[in-house]
Amino acid sequence: MARAIRVPLVVDLLIAEDADAIRTLAAEARLDRGVPVRTPFLNRMIARRVSDVLQVEGRPLPSAAPRDAPGRAAARDALEARLQEHTVDEAHRDALAAYVGGRDSRPLGPLVQETIGRLFVAEFRATDETWQAARLLDEAARTLNPIRRLIWGFTGSVNDARRLLARQFAGDPAALHAVAIAVHNLVVSFERMRALGAAPGGVVRYTPQEAASLCLAAPPRVLRHATARGATARGEFRPGTLVVFGLEAARARTLAHDVAFLTANWSRCPAHGWVPALLASVWQRAAETARP
Ligand code: HEM
Repeated sequence: MARAIRVPLVVDLLIAEDADAIRTLAAEARLDRGVPVRTPFLNRMIARRVSDVLQVEGRPLPSAAPRDAPGRAAARDALEARLQEHTVDEAHRDALAAYVGGRDSRPLGPLVQETIGRLFVAEFRATDETWQAARLLDEAARTLNPIRRLIWGFTGSVNDARRLLARQFAGDPAALHAVAIAVHNLVVSFERMRALGAAPGGVVRYTPQEAASLCLAAPPRVLRHATARGATARGEFRPGTLVVFGLEAARARTLAHDVAFLTANWSRCPAHGWVPALLASVWQRAAETARP
């Protein structure tokens, strides 16, 4: 069951943190991404923060675009098809396996960012600057701290970070989403793999598929807003209600991939097959190269 937090004119939230509630609500046609027109004060603040940050030249990144945004679904399908053909080159897979096996080669953040970035621009090189830009954008999309937002508005640092990354990928919104936002889920997944590999039994204790499933990190929260009144077995909403899917909390309890990637829905992640395959192949490599 989803949990409701309602204070008239201030906030109207529905929070779903179990897999069944998320599955039911994610299939709901009256819940969409974007900024609701009429909604309580705090809801508007949260939705605006996300839409202000997750955009490039005024166009929403795909993970913030409404269901019927022109071209969104077709671009997602095209990326998904491309990812099915793409395997990570050996050098990057080896470097990731070295990290998982406890033998650092390069700092993890830029390494993962470069691995993902090369899906879009073959010669992309991640630097400390591109990685810090990704960290700032991710933080800006999450924080409600008004002082930070004021400072970022004043210094223009969030806009600079977005411009820096957008330049590298010719303004491609999917690429920007991948290297600035999705990258953090993969970084956490590899950190978990390294911890799992260091535990008793080491990297040979689990099969690559088991390790991938145990370590996969889902986005902590994704947002929807209600476009009309509705009632489901898992919770009720009114126009403007913000619905929060606590994907990572639900995934951690069930290890359900369909929840981590919202695969059953219009908003499914195009990397839902590619990411587990990458995690499994890196684990496999780490096991092959583990010290006896
Ligand atoms: C651990 C890794 C990842 C996880 C758990 C994950 C999960 C998700 C989820 C849950 C969504 C839906 C968000 C929402 O509806 O608000 C999403 C959307 C998306 N993801 Fe991922 N993702 C991951 C990595 C990636 C990577 C590596 C890419 C790109 C190569 C990617 C590209 C996208 C895109 C383009 C969308 C928007 C799809 C649309 O048009 O609706 N993701 N992802």
